[in-house]
Amino acid sequence: MRDLEFFRNAFNDYLRTKLRDKEPASLYEPIKYIMELGGKRLRPVLTLMSTKAFGGNYKESLDAALAIEIFHNFSLVHDDIMDDAPLRRGALTVHEKWNTNTGILSGDVMLINSYQYLEEYNNIIFKSLTSIFSKTAIEVCEGQQYDMDFEERDDVTESEYIKMITYKTAVLVAAAMEMGAIIAGASKKSQNLIYDFGLNLGIAFQLQDDYLDAFGDPKNFGKQMGGDIIENKKTFLYLQSNKMGSSEQRAELKDLFSIKPSCPEEKIKTIKEIYKESGAAMATKKEIEKYTYLAFESLDLLEVSKEKMASLREFGYKLMKREV
Ligand code: IPE
Ligand code: IPE
Ligand code: MG
Ligand code: MG
Ligand code: MG
Repeated sequence: MRDLEFFRNAFNDYLRTKLRDKEPASLYEPIKYIMELGGKRLRPVLTLMSTKAFGGNYKESLDAALAIEIFHNFSLVHDDIMDDAPLRRGALTVHEKWNTNTGILSGDVMLINSYQYLEEYNNIIFKSLTSIFSKTAIEVCEGQQYDMDFEERDDVTESEYIKMITYKTAVLVAAAMEMGAIIAGASKKSQNLIYDFGLNLGIAFQLQDDYLDAFGDPKNFGKQMGGDIIENKKTFLYLQSNKMGSSEQRAELKDLFSIKPSCPEEKIKTIKEIYKESGAAMATKKEIEKYTYLAFESLDLLEVSKEKMASLREFGYKLMKREV
């Protein structure tokens, strides 16, 4: 995993040169705050890795990586407003530390900043990058809307769920990889294959995010535990419990997911028991593996040396085992 550390450091070094104190401070401070809280830097690292895997110079994709990461952080700032989330990366969310209006407006600037980073590219590459970036950004909004619509529904199907997480999460991971390939000058076929790799990896990633929301270790999770249960999110854990659970478990699930108690501890405890005892927790783990291996199938089809793809495969394994 030397590559991973190297690219993460290279990205963070580059980011540091870009973050400025500007006026009005109340608009720019929250941007610096969320960007400096870090996070895993999964997407920018994948962009840099993808460029290298296709024979390009990773330095040329630093601006695209920055565009992707600042867009991701914008989506988190707004997501935390939508999800009423108090914590992010072990610290207060932007709208909790400041207020909702600040979260909205600082987020807007971040979205626009992401396009400004893409302006560093020349005409043809710029056009290809902005085209996939804009398509992806709209899909993320669609995914986010489905996610919220599903809170109010109790008849969400598994395929609707997969579509929702594909849009809200996986397409950005996929685009991060494709943009790296575009900058390296990879063939259209390779661009499509690496997009598919990112897409399936992104689906596995969101399934794991759902799993950790319920069963992660509070010491290093960095977000409110059970946030999805509090918000009645129709996660894979929920859908599988509804499918595999006893009639009593299903009735209890339906009942508890129609309310938002002011003290949610008891609800969280009961739901987690149902997720475990119905077999849904185990089924989610299996599904994470399924999509990770599906991702690897795209890698196998790439016409580049196995050696070059090794770090991407290793990255996939690492994500499957992640705890944060
Ligand atoms: C969180 O993304 C939002 C999802 C799409 C699951 P990450 O888990 O990549 O968040 P950071 O950037 O590492 O904090
Ligand atoms: C977030 O999904 C997806 C986007 C931000 C687009 P979640 O709502 O599950 O992400 P977390 O758990 O808050 O990080
Ligand atoms: Mg959300
Ligand atoms: Mg959220
Ligand atoms: Mg989540």
